[in-house]
Amino acid sequence: VQVLVQSSWPTTNRWLDELKRQAPEVTFHLWPDLPEPSTIDAAITWYPPPDLFPRLVNLKAVLSFGAGVDHLLRPEITLPQVPIARLVDPVMTQRMAEYVLYGVLRFHRQFDLYDRQARDAVWERHQHRDPAEIRVGILGFGSMGRAAAALLRGVGYEIAGWSRKAHEIEGATSFAGTEQLEAFLARSDVVVCLLPLTEETRGLLDARRLAQMPPGSFLINAARGEHVVEEDLAAALDSGHLAGALLDVFRTEPLPASSPLWRHPRVTVTPHIASLSNPRTGVAILVEQLRRLERGEELLHLVDPQRGY
Ligand code: NAP
Ligand code: GLV
Repeated sequence: VQVLVQSSWPTTNRWLDELKRQAPEVTFHLWPDLPEPSTIDAAITWYPPPDLFPRLVNLKAVLSFGAGVDHLLRPEITLPQVPIARLVDPVMTQRMAEYVLYGVLRFHRQFDLYDRQARDAVWERHQHRDPAEIRVGILGFGSMGRAAAALLRGVGYEIAGWSRKAHEIEGATSFAGTEQLEAFLARSDVVVCLLPLTEETRGLLDARRLAQMPPGSFLINAARGEHVVEEDLAAALDSGHLAGALLDVFRTEPLPASSPLWRHPRVTVTPHIASLSNPRTGVAILVEQLRRLERGEELLHLVDPQRGY
């Protein structure tokens, strides 16, 4: 099997070394170094340039370096008619769940407030609520949303999830579809966005939807920046309607130094690290996919380009 590896990550060479170590029988080529494009069977990619796929005329599969595939479904990309798989790594999923737990604790245990107090050397203690009184709502009840729900349930939070179809998840209430979104937001003290970015979810959290969250509620966005209308979020925070936000993803990344979100007293910014793809465990899954391809078996975690995730 001949495989093209393409990404602009500074860690790409680490991934390549790990791929070669775990699959010595495979020949890997690092974009843009391509001796004979027609011999490439599979591409492992992150934000492919538009001229990549048209050259790979005998491609049999596309593997995403990440869990999200919005980078592949951009309008300027002509995707080949071959199976497309995303990277679903239990280690990444667990890291995401931990990030969400951090955000929920930040709100529940008022660490935001203690950060602000500390800047002024204020020693003041506040009572905190029981976890069962904190209603967490997870937008996107897929692999990451469900893992976050399981971890949060263990602490005792009241959990609901929102998805396209209803799901039966132990210890969580399921909301589904646009018609149940308002009720879902209205019952959530913390809203966690873990949706894929699609035509339907882009800009979902705008002024109208943020206003449907209860006064004093908190937003965690660890999915994609374009899920949130940043100006509307800033307005909801400034008006005091939202108590705060933990944001890992932004419309423009890296977040420009001029963005008011960096300095907003009620916003915590992290640089898209909620769940980093992990070379060791991620490569094991990519290699399993390449072996499936070689054996003519169906790939795991297939994407439906029509649906967008
Ligand atoms: P997933 O397993 O595909 O789950 C997606 C969930 O979103 C499903 O529950 C799906 O509903 C729901 N959904 C999709 N479109 C919807 C719509 N229009 N209305 C309501 N629900 C909708 O994805 P995942 O693995 O959990 O990953 C989620 C996202 O996390 C990725 O796409 C990526 O953007 C982001 N991510 C971020 C980081 C980071 O470091 N910040 C790392 C990894 C991933 P159904 O269950 O009904 O299909
Ligand atoms: C990261 O954001 C991913 O989609 O894996």
